[in-house]
Amino acid sequence: MLNKKLQDALNAQINAELYSAYLYLAMEAYFQSLNLKGFANWMCVQSGEETGHAMKIYHYIIERGGRVTLDAIDKPPAEWKSPLAVFEAGYKHEQKVTALINDLVELACKEKDHASVIFLQWFVTEQVEEEANAAEIVGKLSMLKDIPQAVYLLDKELGQRTKGEE
Ligand SMILES: [Fe+2]
Ligand SMILES: [Fe+2]
Repeated sequence: MLNKKLQDALNAQINAELYSAYLYLAMEAYFQSLNLKGFANWMCVQSGEETGHAMKIYHYIIERGGRVTLDAIDKPPAEWKSPLAVFEAGYKHEQKVTALINDLVELACKEKDHASVIFLQWFVTEQVEEEANAAEIVGKLSMLKDIPQAVYLLDKELGQRTKGEE
């Protein structure tokens, strides 16, 4: 059985992951409004991943005999000043999520909940990927920002991202 402190923290993480899904969906809508279908596709896949993260925790809480409680999801922004600004915001957001995951691991260790420590390892690894993905696109957009065709070319590349990664 999960202890109350850890259950509360895991429920809060479900909310954080659902906020991530909502944030990336808002980013998708922003790119759709610019007719950047490839960027929008990347965000659509990312948003789906985040829902998957929330559901992983959801099922884990239930498997451990705990109780899932859902809270209100904060309103994400609707506008950014450029594609680069979107990915900078995404990168910053993922750094915040990484800190939340690290706090969860520390709590699980403190509460001597070994099953949760193991469960959370997947998220630790996933956050390395999430930060690297966002940082890579920030890097490309920063490097290419003086080339007018860059956004068009990157849109083609990001259009290739498919569902199925975590
Ligand atoms: Fe996530
Ligand atoms: Fe991922």
